[in-house]
Amino acid sequence: MTARSAPRTTSPRARFVAVGGTEASGRAGSLWRVSEPTTPAHDVERESPAGPAEARYLTLPELSPYLSAERYEHPKELFRHVVRRLHELTEPGRAYRYADIACANGEFLYYLQSEFPHWQLHGFDYEPAFLDVARAQPSLEAVRFELVDLFEIDETHPYDIVSLLGVMSTFQDPEPVLAKLLALCASSGLIFIDGYFNEYDVEVRSVYSDNSTPEGRGKWRVDWTQHTQAKIGEYLEPLCQSVEFEEVVMGVELPRDPAKPHIDAWTFRDADGKIIITNGTRFMLNDVMLTVRR
Ligand SMILES: C[S@@+](CC[C@H](N)C(=O)[O-])C[C@H]1O[C@@H](n2cnc3c(N)ncnc32)[C@H](O)[C@@H]1O
Repeated sequence: MTARSAPRTTSPRARFVAVGGTEASGRAGSLWRVSEPTTPAHDVERESPAGPAEARYLTLPELSPYLSAERYEHPKELFRHVVRRLHELTEPGRAYRYADIACANGEFLYYLQSEFPHWQLHGFDYEPAFLDVARAQPSLEAVRFELVDLFEIDETHPYDIVSLLGVMSTFQDPEPVLAKLLALCASSGLIFIDGYFNEYDVEVRSVYSDNSTPEGRGKWRVDWTQHTQAKIGEYLEPLCQSVEFEEVVMGVELPRDPAKPHIDAWTFRDADGKIIITNGTRFMLNDVMLTVRR
């Protein structure tokens, strides 16, 4: 089984940054990628974001679970939640056009295909190392993958259903992302976005450096943003038929593995026995699903 290599993106928003290697070295994991760059698209060598003021989202493939296909047969609770909602909200037999934005190695599309084999599935991501894993799966042959920054995805033929999973908390400003997803979704279509959408009216932005591994040490990153349900609703409601927030119930416990990067998730139970997700930030990170009817 050989991985087809993904074409390089020309997106003005995408930028590669070399860490201990160059793209020419062809080593998966020798590059990391930043979002929301401040310079035009080109490969640049530069120092890691050395301080909180330079913090950015980084894919860090060398630390990522998306370089392997191991989790394909074990869909996350989040994926199960979306599929449950899809069974409720879609018509059996209809061949929906589906776009999974920021699909990484295609884990969710793999699960989606097993549930809805007649749908036309599309996956988009800007990390070549992750898309290579997706493209190497014979069972995902029918899925159309594209290496592209989400802001550059072609809007000419909108999709019936669009999902953005596991990424929204890396965007401090949600509006450009929401605007792009609305543009990609057909009228009356569905959009699923998970995040830490705060029911309380407090916006939270955070930057962090996970120093527990040599690869992560000193690299200041952006994540764990809590957008408020109020602000997201205020933006979306005039533009859509419906906007719904629903907590994703965490049904499995994840023991802490001290050998893993401290930023990896684990769970504990609160006084009521509810499973709470956390990580080395000490934040409570249970997902909330935003479902939009365009
Ligand atoms: C935490 S992973 C989530 C992957 C998958 N959706 C899931 O839920 O398991 C975040 C993914 O978002 C991708 N990503 C982040 N920003 C992106 C952007 N602007 N355009 C395309 N992909 C992006 C990363 O490359 C990475 O694969």
